[in-house]
Amino acid sequence: MNKFIAPSILAADFANLQRDIEMVNNSKADWFHIDVMDGVFVPNISFGMPVISAIKKHATKTMDVHLMIVNPDKYIADFKKVGANILTVHYEACTHLHRTVQAIKAEGMKAGVSLNPHTPIAVLEDIIADLDVVLIMSVNPGFGGQSFIENTYKKVEQLKHLIEYSDSNALIEIDGGVTDQNIEQLSESGADVFVAGSFVFRSETPLETIGNLKKLISTE
Ligand code: DX5
Ligand code: ZN
Repeated sequence: MNKFIAPSILAADFANLQRDIEMVNNSKADWFHIDVMDGVFVPNISFGMPVISAIKKHATKTMDVHLMIVNPDKYIADFKKVGANILTVHYEACTHLHRTVQAIKAEGMKAGVSLNPHTPIAVLEDIIADLDVVLIMSVNPGFGGQSFIENTYKKVEQLKHLIEYSDSNALIEIDGGVTDQNIEQLSESGADVFVAGSFVFRSETPLETIGNLKKLISTE
């Protein structure tokens, strides 16, 4: 079973974005994690289409776009155009989640659904078979650099059971406060993809930090 590292560009140096993207290209990372915040669904604004297009120009790995916005349906085709390969929406932001997921797939992207820390896994029972990714928030969305919420391990185990029981192929992705202190236990609990922002970009040697995280989850 493959395990993936997804550095979060939110923690990159935006004045040196090309340098930081090339660092990720040259590292053992697997995906670019790209956080879009609208100041409505979450109390922060990050960046939008022009920045994602600029990232796409240099990125050589999967573009994993995490939408923390209301009304994501409105922009699905636009995110495809700027280069998203995986598009993840929040359960809490979608009234007609099934329709949204089908619309993402119809654009030729992989579909992800994210759950806030307070949202139980059980809400995914009737949609899990349609999902490519479930993103469990291990902090409250909106900001990088927050502390990991310990209840996440339990949720990963519950989600793993649901996926197996439902014959789903969904990957379990963890986002928020991931470090070398919790990544192994998360992996053992059943997680497949690990987003890391501050831990990578605030380290002295981001390239090596990514390599070390990858080593901690490698199954060989
Ligand atoms: C938070 C974002 C995360 C964030 C993670 O709302 O979804 O992707 O960048 O940052 P760290 O790893 O610093 O918690
Ligand atoms: Zn994210």
